[in-house]
Amino acid sequence: MGEIKKIVALVLSPRRLGNSEILVKEICRHLPQPHELQLIRLTDKQIKPCKGCYSCLMTGKCPLDDDYAEVAGALSGADALIIATPTYFLGANGVLKVFQDRCLQLFSGKFDLRGKPVLNLVTAGLPHEAGISELMLNSFSLIMGLDIRASEIFFGALPGEIFLDNEEQLGRAAALGKQLLGDEPRRFKPWTCPLCGSDVVQLLGGNRVLCLACRNDGYLSLAEGQARLAIEIREDNIFFTEEQTRRHGVWLKGMKERFLSLKGELAAICKPYADEGEWL
Ligand SMILES: Cc1cc2nc3c(=O)[nH]c(=O)nc-3n(C[C@H](O)[C@H](O)[C@H](O)COP(=O)(O)O)c2cc1C
Repeated sequence: MGEIKKIVALVLSPRRLGNSEILVKEICRHLPQPHELQLIRLTDKQIKPCKGCYSCLMTGKCPLDDDYAEVAGALSGADALIIATPTYFLGANGVLKVFQDRCLQLFSGKFDLRGKPVLNLVTAGLPHEAGISELMLNSFSLIMGLDIRASEIFFGALPGEIFLDNEEQLGRAAALGKQLLGDEPRRFKPWTCPLCGSDVVQLLGGNRVLCLACRNDGYLSLAEGQARLAIEIREDNIFFTEEQTRRHGVWLKGMKERFLSLKGELAAICKPYADEGEWL
């Protein structure tokens, strides 16, 4: 028998036994490897918003006292991750963004998720209404340097409805179980970003496009009715490759020196605004 793999699932729904939770559990029933599943309901954890103080980068310590370190520690200790979010008003549950902002600590080298396999899962009540949920999960995973094994959307509004008379969605869940720790390279659809597999691009004018998940740019073409993206790694991307992430970390840490050298000039810009308006 192989080594027991530790799967950590970040469930971004507050709903007990809701679609996101049962989807994670169904997928894990199909993992071919012996494994243990640890679940974190992020909405039950206290994750305070980042204060933007940069202390984590300068001192390695975040001044906020909450459950962030416990969650980040659990993710770091996993062999593979599953992230599942319901769609709330066309995006992932907001707790994802709050957690993501706290991950600035990533650049202090306190934890490293790079290379861990991940499944990004979205549940949504209605087709066409999942909005940017999948993009938000993919964007988070790419920034963290995770190895996205698959990213999929499942539809169903009521708790359990994703599997109500729905062999197609049950089948997709089973296939995902085999993909998480498999060796098969991920195959991207021809119209998706060839670097990260995302199908969300920004039109930049002409045939130029920017992939909103990995932030690399290139061109859109249409041949025989099939759209294709040609996108290459941008030299000044800040966190796509490991080296780019490292470089960005160095730049961020250098901000303290920049701030100290510009402190007087910056204060002269900001101070005149101090007494305007009334804070509620
Ligand atoms: C506040 C709120 C907003 C929602 N917004 C959307 C939406 O924009 N698009 C959509 O397809 N479903 C939306 N839904 C439905 C959920 O995404 C859907 O029921 C999902 O299956 C819930 O997953 P869960 O059971 O894991 O919580 C919304 C649900 C709530 C509670």
